[in-house]
Formats: sequence, structure tokens, C-alpha cells
Amino acid sequence: MSRHAHTAQRVAYRAKLLGFAGDPERSAAATHFEEDGLLIVEDGHVVANGSYAALAAQLTPTTELRDLRGKLIVPGFIDTHLHYPQTDMIASPAPGLLPWLERYTFPTERRFIEGAYARETADFFLDELLACGTTTALVYCTVHKQSADAFFAASEARNLRMIAGKVLMDRNCPEFLRDTAQSGYDDSAELIERWHGRGRQLYALTPRFAPTSTPAQLEACGTLAKAHPDVFIQTHVAENVDEVKWVAQLYPGHRSYLDVYDRYGLLRPRAVYGHCIHFDDEDRTRMAQTGAVASHCPTSNLFLGSGLFDVAKASEQGMAVALGTDVGGGTSFSMLRTMNEAHKVARLAGHHLSATRMFWLATAGAAQALGLADTIGTLAPQAEADFVVLDPQATPLVARRTERAESLEEWLFALALLGDDRTVFETYSAGHCVHRRDAKRRH
Ligand code: GUN
Ligand code: ZN
Repeated sequence: MSRHAHTAQRVAYRAKLLGFAGDPERSAAATHFEEDGLLIVEDGHVVANGSYAALAAQLTPTTELRDLRGKLIVPGFIDTHLHYPQTDMIASPAPGLLPWLERYTFPTERRFIEGAYARETADFFLDELLACGTTTALVYCTVHKQSADAFFAASEARNLRMIAGKVLMDRNCPEFLRDTAQSGYDDSAELIERWHGRGRQLYALTPRFAPTSTPAQLEACGTLAKAHPDVFIQTHVAENVDEVKWVAQLYPGHRSYLDVYDRYGLLRPRAVYGHCIHFDDEDRTRMAQTGAVASHCPTSNLFLGSGLFDVAKASEQGMAVALGTDVGGGTSFSMLRTMNEAHKVARLAGHHLSATRMFWLATAGAAQALGLADTIGTLAPQAEADFVVLDPQATPLVARRTERAESLEEWLFALALLGDDRTVFETYSAGHCVHRRDAKRRH
């Protein structure tokens, strides 16, 4: 693996290629698949992609050719919602969201006051993401400024495109995790200055959720959001029925939970809302009108018993949707496992979520929702060369099932439903191999 080597060497990868020009549910022509494809990469960016036959002429004697025939290259997965400090408490059982936060989440997040502990966890977390083929994620840190510094430093050291932010939380949580409207504002402003747009790092304003922020804190967050229109926003909304009731008490006079965030100017493009389960049509319409994005986190919603996100209604009403793992409420870092459970959640609502659509949601659809469509989530020329090599022979069962697939959709469906980290053969970020399945892990 050449993690840090800088090279302008042109490298070509011969494999099956999958990419998307749009939502495959809206247009069948949006899915681009090459059975025998070539992806040409140089200096961290894609130079070309297409059929091997058409591009073979561009293979100059100095181009290194990697023969990955039989494998599938897709753009790196994008996980739009997860918490790196919760790595250490994934799979902790509780009777629902609020007791889970009290019993496991808050005590675990306390440890991130220590920069060295935060950095060690961030490194483990990034190894885990890359092992699952995720090259970009929207990541919650803790309330501690140093937890964000540690995360960004770990991401920058590997030249990953990550989006993260310090949690804002000034009430209804233990004293040891509390900031104030002013300190949260000052710390966030300082972190934006330090990290937003530095190399491949991007900042997200991160009010945890309305119950743990005073109106003054949401107001301050709205002020920062206005001053930085290209900064991301991430929070939770309408995840759990007890939480929804609590918000109605804490913020009386609002039409809905979502309306609280709306009131403070937090609905806009690049604002990503985790869960969005207990929404009505007006909420969904408001999300669509403002360009805010819903992050659907099925493994978490099933694990915590939060409810079932309605992906069909979301699409009908024009609400942008992407997928998230929500680790540690979610039970897997794998976007393939997340697709598996998204499919089942859709089934319970009588809707069919196709494999092509799930791969789109985890790549180009997410990039488009985040306003990064030309940068990530695509194998198009000039895009950053973040991609994953998937192995349809990863296990005897996946090999047996994919061999019997009668269409591309069936083949991808088997990969999505049976896939996990074993399916990820290699992961590339900015043209460098940052994970190889059979190599020894560093963390
Ligand atoms: N709501 C507020 N905080 C959290 C969290 O850490 N995880 C989840 N799933 N929901 C939340
Ligand atoms: Zn979450």
C-alpha cells in the first residue's frame, strides 16, 4: 500500500465499472455499467473511464495496468451519518434512544476530552470505514473541541475527504459534556477557520439535537450557518416518538419538530438530518423546498426500535435522501449491510428498493445531495479518485449466487444483500490504496 507516496504516475484499472448519471429510479439510462471497463487515474483524479476496448489505446508504455477482471469498481461509499466516539459502544442494548443515550452514549463520549484517546479511536474508526469501502462520511465528534481536531488530523494524515464537526450541547446532558451557546459558537467558528476546506477536510455545524440545545444555542448555530453558507450542518430529527414529544414540550408553539430547526435557519442545502422517521407531508415538503437532506439509517432504526423511514414517500415529495450507518446506534460500519436493511425497511412499507438505486443512494445520490457531485461519488473524469473494488467471489455463497444472476440488477442485489467488509477487496482514496482486504490492519 502506498498511503502517502505522491505520484503523478498514470494507473489504469481493468474491471467491471458501475456509476450513475442520476437516480436510476427516474431513468434507466442513468446507470452506467461496463462489463469489461477501464478506469484511468492520475495524480489523485480520474482521467477517463469507459470500455477497455475504447480506452486501451490510451495505455501508454508508462501507464501501470492493474488487472482486476471479474471484480467491480464503484465510487467510494458515502456514509451520511455516524458518530466516531461511539465506536467503543456499538452494539450496546437499551430500550430505545433516550435510555441508550443516558446509559451508554454520554459516559462513552466523556473520554474524548483526552486528545490522545480521541486520536487513537479516530484511527481505528477510519480503518474500519475504509475496510467497508466508505471513503467519505459525515461524522459527529463529541462536545470537546479536541475531539474534532483529533478526527480531522487523523483524516488529513490519510488524505481522506471527510466532513465532521464538534457537537453543540448546552442542556439536558451531564455537566461534563456541556458547552454554552457562546463557547459552542466560539469553538465551532475556530474549527471552521482551522479545518473547513483545508486539504480535503470539510466542517459540519453539529447541534446534537433540539433537546440538548437551548434556543440561544440554536440561534448562535443559525448565525454561524448564515456566515458560512458552504459549511455543512448535521443533526437528528424525528427519530423516536418519546423524543418528538419531548421537543414539543421544550419548544412549544412550533408546528413540528422539524419546524424548530427551520425557525433558526438550519434548513438549507448541505444540511443533513438524521432519521426523519416521524415526519408528516408538510415536513417532507419543507425539506424538499429548502434542499435539506434526509439521512436514512436503517440498522440504527431497527436496533433502537425507532421506527420505519418511508423512502417511497420521501422520493414522491422530492426530499433528498442518502444512507447512513449511524454507528454506534447503527450496528454495522458497512454500507452494503446498510443497503440490506434499507431494502427490508422499504419492503415493510410495501416499496421495492432496487439494488441500482441503493448503490446510487450510497454513492452519486449522496454526493449530489451533499453538493459534491463533481468531486466524489463518481468515476467521471476530473473527479477525485475515491473508489472501491468489490469482489463478487468474496465468499463461496456470494460467488455461487452472483454466478447464477440473470441480470445486472440481480447480480448487484446479491452483492448488496450478501455483502459486508469481506466483499471489499480494496479501497482507494485520491488514487492511493488505503485498504487491502488481505493486508494486516494498523489499528
Ligand atoms: N439523538 C441524539 N443523539 C443521538 C445519537 O448519538 N445517536 C442517535 N441515533 N440519535 C441521537
Ligand atoms: Zn446519530
